[in-house]
Amino acid sequence: MSSKLLAKDLLINVTSFFRDSKAFELLAEEVIPDLVHRHTSDRPLRIWVAGCSTGEETYSLAMLFLEEIAAAKRNIKLQVFASDVDEDAVALAREGRYPESIAADVSPTRLARFFTQEDHSYRVMAELRGAVVFTAQDVLADPPFSRLDLISCRNLLIYLRPEAQEKVLLLFHFALRESGVLLLGSSETVGRLDDRFEPISKAQRVYRQIGHSRPGEVDFPIGSGAGARTLWPGRMRPPAAQGISARDLTQRLLLAASSTNPSASKGRVDRSSRRTTSRGSPSSRGSSTLPGRSCRALSTNSRSQTRSKGRSTKKPCRRMRSSSRQTKS
Ligand SMILES: C[S@@+](CC[C@H](N)C(=O)[O-])C[C@H]1O[C@@H](n2cnc3c(N)ncnc32)[C@H](O)[C@@H]1O
Repeated sequence: MSSKLLAKDLLINVTSFFRDSKAFELLAEEVIPDLVHRHTSDRPLRIWVAGCSTGEETYSLAMLFLEEIAAAKRNIKLQVFASDVDEDAVALAREGRYPESIAADVSPTRLARFFTQEDHSYRVMAELRGAVVFTAQDVLADPPFSRLDLISCRNLLIYLRPEAQEKVLLLFHFALRESGVLLLGSSETVGRLDDRFEPISKAQRVYRQIGHSRPGEVDFPIGSGAGARTLWPGRMRPPAAQGISARDLTQRLLLAASSTNPSASKGRVDRSSRRTTSRGSPSSRGSSTLPGRSCRALSTNSRSQTRSKGRSTKKPCRRMRSSSRQTKS
């Protein structure tokens, strides 16, 4: 494997518990208490983590919500939907087993409350695991979840062209309840959709949904190929103009480099054809996916076991048609 491909393989799913600690502090201290306080007990609190990778971000958010619901003594059911186009990452997220090194990011109190320690690893306990449903889903092509109180889509939009970014943001606007909250990654913004999302914190990329979707503006499926994929260098603005961090820039350059590398594209074809066999709709799916594997895998053995488990339990996703606007519920 070339060093570029290896580096891309390691970086693409990069994630960690409580990544961007200031954003998580704001969530824990203001945003989540407000959501829990305003929520009525007659329906579940619904969260969608799009581009969840191996689950760390999802479990971080779920821990904060469970803590706040308990602290506020509210009888609210939490439903967290977490999705990623990468089935291997989703399988690892479902397994919920992480290396001991997560103790650097997860406090001892949370480790004690939400994890059990086994064989040099931490496993997510039933209360936390039971709050989350993981699924393989392409945000560009599959039905979104709906009636959501919060969507977190962090460090995914940076891989898309501006037109595709805007379409995904309009999809999120449609999927959120009125005044629902949107979290983006530290290098991402809502761009010109400032009439759809107002900042709760510009610095931490936390927004509130405002306004209403206009008929016909949410275009399903968003599609793939040249219009959707990452393209720097190319037609996008230079990364410096978008405030992209060195790490994210490295990922994007590696992706751009690998798209001109014949062995890299062969890898994509193999991967996507394997994926489409189990999901149907082969033609468009293959070209819309970003290749990637987990950087947080515990071991080759456990990964290959979980992969086959993940594939066998996965349900096929229905395609969204522009006329029928199906949504996951
Ligand atoms: C850099 S990781 C970010 C993980 C996590 N959100 C975080 O910020 O820690 C980006 C993730 O987006 C996923 N992804 C890329 N394109 C996607 C798409 N079209 N639909 C769903 N997930 C996608 C990748 O598989 C990868 O796991």
